[in-house]
Amino acid sequence: MGADPGSGAVVVTGAGNGIGAAVAERLRADGYLVVGLDVEPCGFEPSRVADVADIDGHEGLIGSVAAAHGRIWGLVNVAGVFIPEAVADLTVTAYRRQLGVMLDGPVWLARAAGLHMAGQGGGRIVNITSIHGTNSERSALSYDAAKGGLEAATRTLALELGEHGVLVNSVAPGFVRTRMSVVDGRDELETDWFRQGYVESGRLPVRRAAEPREMASVVAFLISPDNTYVSGARIVADGALTVGF
Ligand SMILES: NC(=O)c1ccc[n+]([C@@H]2O[C@H](COP(=O)([O-])OP(=O)(O)OC[C@H]3O[C@@H](n4cnc5c(N)ncnc54)[C@H](O)[C@@H]3O)[C@@H](O)[C@H]2O)c1
Repeated sequence: MGADPGSGAVVVTGAGNGIGAAVAERLRADGYLVVGLDVEPCGFEPSRVADVADIDGHEGLIGSVAAAHGRIWGLVNVAGVFIPEAVADLTVTAYRRQLGVMLDGPVWLARAAGLHMAGQGGGRIVNITSIHGTNSERSALSYDAAKGGLEAATRTLALELGEHGVLVNSVAPGFVRTRMSVVDGRDELETDWFRQGYVESGRLPVRRAAEPREMASVVAFLISPDNTYVSGARIVADGALTVGF
């Protein structure tokens, strides 16, 4: 199954900021018609204001994007939120919100888009997860659970959609310079905790955080018709952070 970028739209969630904005910019530069989806303005058209946690709207959303743009070739699930909470302080609201945005939302959007793509003869889905999918951090139970769940869902989607030409993968970033690295008003990439603990110590072998466009480069291959055989994979883009101990 092959297609050129002009053969269908690519939906990018979380396209208003950070990694999602970089993915949208890269795919637009590569010639795709990108439909941005975010709770905040994306700054380009076509885009829609939508909450990915609103899973009841996903079939209608995919149907209307397909109706407006002919067909959907790709989906990149990027939208995310991080709400730190220690286990002892866990709240149902923050727990459900993180699972809603980073597990329920992407799963049901991937289902709706994936079934559409299967009916059209093929497509590509990329889920942005995290090194939190396999490695955990204190005060990140809900985030860890959401990312681990989305990696499991990525595999099952790849199993069931592969025969229809739909390839499904996840990209797991490590430290990326976006507003998400600002936790409780403090940019963790500007702290001694990061500089000394990761960069100077060499615990982070490439010795710097990534820029969002470096994640977009990985997505650009996985979403493209050039990717004909990578499916069910988890591409870790963390500068070798998690291969050592
Ligand atoms: N920055 C990092 O270090 C890092 C590392 C690993 C994984 N990630 C993942 O990358 C993804 C993007 O994060 P980022 O760093 O670019 O953060 P960001 O805050 O810069 O961007 C996240 C975007 O998602 C949107 N969003 C949030 N909730 C939404 C919802 N319910 N519906 C629609 N849009 C919503 C936001 O408005 C924002 O535009 C997230 O899934 C995050 O978990 C980030």
